[in-house]
Amino acid sequence: MTEENEKMVVTPWEVRGVIDYDKLIEQFGVQPMTPGLAERIAKHAGYMHLQLRRGIYLSHRDVDWWLGEHEKGNRVGLYTGRGPSGYVHLGHLLPWFFCKYLQDAFGADLYFQMTDDEKFVFDDHLSLDQTIGYTYDNALDVIACGLDPEKTHIFSDTEHIQHLYKIALRVSKRVTYSTAKAVFGFQDSDNIGMIWYPALQAMTCFLQSDRDGENIPCLIPAAIDQDPYWRMTRDIAEKMGYYKPAQIHAKFLPGLGKGGKMSSSMPETAIFTVDPPEVAENKVMAAFTGGQATVKEQREKGGDPTICSIYAYAYFLFEEDDAKLIELEKDCRSGALVCGDCKARLAKVISRFLVDFQAKREKAKDSIQDYFIK
Ligand code: TRP
Repeated sequence: MTEENEKMVVTPWEVRGVIDYDKLIEQFGVQPMTPGLAERIAKHAGYMHLQLRRGIYLSHRDVDWWLGEHEKGNRVGLYTGRGPSGYVHLGHLLPWFFCKYLQDAFGADLYFQMTDDEKFVFDDHLSLDQTIGYTYDNALDVIACGLDPEKTHIFSDTEHIQHLYKIALRVSKRVTYSTAKAVFGFQDSDNIGMIWYPALQAMTCFLQSDRDGENIPCLIPAAIDQDPYWRMTRDIAEKMGYYKPAQIHAKFLPGLGKGGKMSSSMPETAIFTVDPPEVAENKVMAAFTGGQATVKEQREKGGDPTICSIYAYAYFLFEEDDAKLIELEKDCRSGALVCGDCKARLAKVISRFLVDFQAKREKAKDSIQDYFIK
């Protein structure tokens, strides 16, 4: 089966096929993002983030309500997380950059969950030592995104369980096995760790409210595949005396190959934050583009940026300037720009980004303890 006609699958554990975002919005029953909402966020931030301008946040639940609470002068909070199963790649950074923007704009605390338990029970190949090791490694990436140490609370499900267990228990008592099966599609052969795990991911929605002793509206920036967790959580939130968590859903960052999201299981098409810059440059130079087979043909017919992974990187992350992005698209379509030059340009940008990010990551080692919850 080729990528094109492979059926779309989007679950918390698997993302496959060609992603049809309109269909996802309908299937998941979420609200499409609107320019008005983006404007409202931008007003508080003082500028419109690239990811908002370019429609990378495609849908949401209750962002209007969350903004309204802030506008009334109430405290608001943020929650996101990471399954620490390996090194971090650029696709993971996308929502974390956005969290930094929201944290600054709304003065919000961010609770950041490292699900080393999830990755252990769902993955046949990872030991607990490995997932916990990645928790501390990946935390360096989170910190390198520039989050505020006073307002960022990273925790590991295994290492900080004493702060989480009581709320997780209260969540678990509200969710029947039949609901969990319906939402997540569990099978009889699944281990019971998998079935318990959603209580942990849901619990974080209420963690700040619980710790601070007041009800604080929680917004979760995340890729849309995590939605089933929030559907489950929203059903029980009010019965537990909390607000329903709000969400804002990001599109997936494509990989450097043909179609599909950036994925750690295809390391040659993913750029990891720990990649030596020259390795990343080589990956970019080997990437799939929307170009023609030969330079001559490219000059005559031009390329197709809509299917090009290189263009996608400029669009999602690396070309801040909208005018320059339009120019890039135009030069690609007209054939004025050939793929080799375009790739070389992006390779340099990514390599500079990595040098800078890796320095921040190194520096984060000194302050990592300031970010973990106590
Ligand atoms: N389940 C997520 C993963 O596998 C990790 C996660 C936990 C998360 N809580 C979250 C992601 C909240 C986004 C938002 O990566």
